[in-house]
Amino acid sequence: MALKTGRGAEAPPFLVMDVIAAANARAAALPPGAPGILRMEVGQPGSPAPRGATEAAIRALQAGAPLGYTEALGNPSLRARIARHYREHYGLEAPPARIAVTVGASGAFPLAFLAAFDRGDRVAMAAPFYPPYANILTALGMEPVLLECGPETRFQPTVAMLDALDPRPEGLVVASPCNPAGTMLAPEELAAIARWCHANGVRLISDEIYHGLSWGSVAESSAAAFSESAIVVNSFSKYWCMTGWRIGWLLLPEDLLRPVERLAQNLFISAPHVAQVAAEAAMDCTEELEAKKAAYARSRALLLEGLPRAGFPRIAAADGAFYLWCDVGHLTADSLDFCARMLEGAGIAATPGVDFDRARGRRFLRFSYCGEEAAMAEAPARLAAWLGRN
Ligand SMILES: Cc1ncc(COP(=O)(O)O)c(C=O)c1O
Repeated sequence: MALKTGRGAEAPPFLVMDVIAAANARAAALPPGAPGILRMEVGQPGSPAPRGATEAAIRALQAGAPLGYTEALGNPSLRARIARHYREHYGLEAPPARIAVTVGASGAFPLAFLAAFDRGDRVAMAAPFYPPYANILTALGMEPVLLECGPETRFQPTVAMLDALDPRPEGLVVASPCNPAGTMLAPEELAAIARWCHANGVRLISDEIYHGLSWGSVAESSAAAFSESAIVVNSFSKYWCMTGWRIGWLLLPEDLLRPVERLAQNLFISAPHVAQVAAEAAMDCTEELEAKKAAYARSRALLLEGLPRAGFPRIAAADGAFYLWCDVGHLTADSLDFCARMLEGAGIAATPGVDFDRARGRRFLRFSYCGEEAAMAEAPARLAAWLGRN
């Protein structure tokens, strides 16, 4: 007898994972001595966690520390260190009691969504968007509402778009810098959105995972500065280069503290203990991390100069993160096929836009520049040769 499957079983795949698998297969099949595949599809830093973080983890392991469960909201010392980060980086007072350490930003989303919303609630977000926002909401019985955004608003939502929504949604997810577009909301735009949400009873969730990685065109600001009801999500995965350690956090409004704590106790018990120790130490590795950031900045500059000449002139404002969102409508009507041919012909892996924007994504692709600097430097020439531009 066929058994029932749940709503979660319908979650669509995260296509970039398929692209990674295709690039791995292509790399493995290359003859010896052939030029390697340039990896521009992955959204994870090419370098490992900072040395100080790894050393702290090794010390904890060698000392035979019990490393059992921590409190559900995280090690008190890590929560205090994150609170200090808000003071030092943003000039904001964020009491440790309002910080919940999570299993990456990914682990923060179900906690935030379940604490803030009910089944059937509508949660708006800009399209293009990071696919798990919509996929997690859908799996939880909530409804993503997509706001089509383009270059005229830096692929970000505006108060006018929110005002036009009827019925009004229960929530809004924003990300600045965002994935895939790499664009940002100026502080006054984020402030206006945050205040609109608070005034209209719309719960704002601000994904700030790419903070620390912005390139000067737009100032970084946290939604916590503008709204006492906003939920802030962050993570050690990007600026701190700790994807596999799986540590993120929530900065929570008062009313959601205890609900999130209860959910965390039940869903995850705690984030991995040794990784929390490492994450705390990573916050003091600024010099090493700034050097990694400088490498992304160099790659970004080379690509912004080289890609237009190679045939990719329409790039979203590259304000932050390590992504370039390219409109390739003049080259293809099917970016999925285009990326497959680019992998085959130019040996460059990039992510087709359909992952991030179901309606318009066939016209876009995402290049990620957090990989090896030498690979990023080589990419424009390879693309130009493949497209017959030189
Ligand atoms: C915008 C955005 N939010 C959240 C995540 C999830 O990150 P984590 O590794 O902290 O789970 C990612 C990962 O790529 C991301 O791009």
